Amino acid sequence: MSIAHGIRTLGVLGSGQMGLGIALVSALRAKVPVLLHDRSADQLTKGLTFMDRLLEKDVAKGRISADDAKDARARVSVVGPEVGLKGLRDVDMVVEAVSESLSLKRSIFASLAAELRPGAILATNTSSISITKIAASAIPEGTGAASDAGKASAGRVVGLHFFNPVPVMKLVELISALQTTPDTLDRARAFAVACGKEVTTSKDVPGFVSNALLMPFINEACLCLNPLGTATRDDIDTTLKLGMNHPMGPLQLGAIGLDTCLAIQQTLYEGTRDSKYRPSVLLERMVDAQWYGKKNGKGFYEYK
Ligand code: CAA
Repeated sequence: MSIAHGIRTLGVLGSGQMGLGIALVSALRAKVPVLLHDRSADQLTKGLTFMDRLLEKDVAKGRISADDAKDARARVSVVGPEVGLKGLRDVDMVVEAVSESLSLKRSIFASLAAELRPGAILATNTSSISITKIAASAIPEGTGAASDAGKASAGRVVGLHFFNPVPVMKLVELISALQTTPDTLDRARAFAVACGKEVTTSKDVPGFVSNALLMPFINEACLCLNPLGTATRDDIDTTLKLGMNHPMGPLQLGAIGLDTCLAIQQTLYEGTRDSKYRPSVLLERMVDAQWYGKKNGKGFYEYK
């Protein structure tokens, strides 16, 4: 156990692209036992299959030994939908990585605050939702925001924002809610470092630093495509890739999930009431059509 973060067991909520990656780096790099929970048994199976593939590839490329891979995999156990959040009762920290819905996160954090022991850290991987709002939902029923119990419970909520693909991207953005205690921040930072990540900090503003800059960029690329018709999809992406050395063009970056991009852009727009963040109609229509990108095979590109 690392003294700096004191996390002996981690819970990860959501086994999509992000949750799976967080579970993997936690088990492989921070070497902590992980309980991975999802409300879909199918999604859990898919996630674990992908984790096995990533570990096998790391072994094949000589980055880790077969024993390291085996040990990391053995550290990950699943908590199925039939068990629910109570299966995470004994963890020292949870990282929530479910979809970008405030109401969903509110109900999850209210349940986590009730189920987990008082000292456990409640981290969210949200890309843009206010950590302060999420922390307010972790105040136990029957206590107020200003009570000692209310302050202590909301004070353990923190933003721990990983980047996609988590095993590859080196950054974690650390976001403090108004309520977050310094001890929670220190431990969350130490945990991210143990996962092999560099940490930057951001205030709790819509989109934090990362998405307040990235999402208008992706949105602007959508506007270039339609209605402006400035250039084709490929020319937009190639311009940014070859002209600015971006590893992916802005429309390719929609691989994060066009539904996620739209949800973040809407949070920026609603949170700032600034028209410069208004989502492009094309992005809205792509999501209306359920063309979410890599996660379901069709977005600006086709994914096999
Ligand atoms: N999970 C795990 N590993 C992955 C992966 C995934 N989903 N996708 C790619 N990789 C790995 C590949 O397996 C490969 O590993 P090896 O070196 O072991 O072969 C490595 O990444 C490089 O992949 P490729 O050679 O296939 O392709 P590439 O050189 O184009 O790199 C990339 C892929 C790392 C994703 C690169 O294109 C890139 O850096 N893209 C930009 C990513 C980015 O900007 N992410 C931030 C998104 S924003 C976000 O996440 C936050 C938010 O709030 C929305």
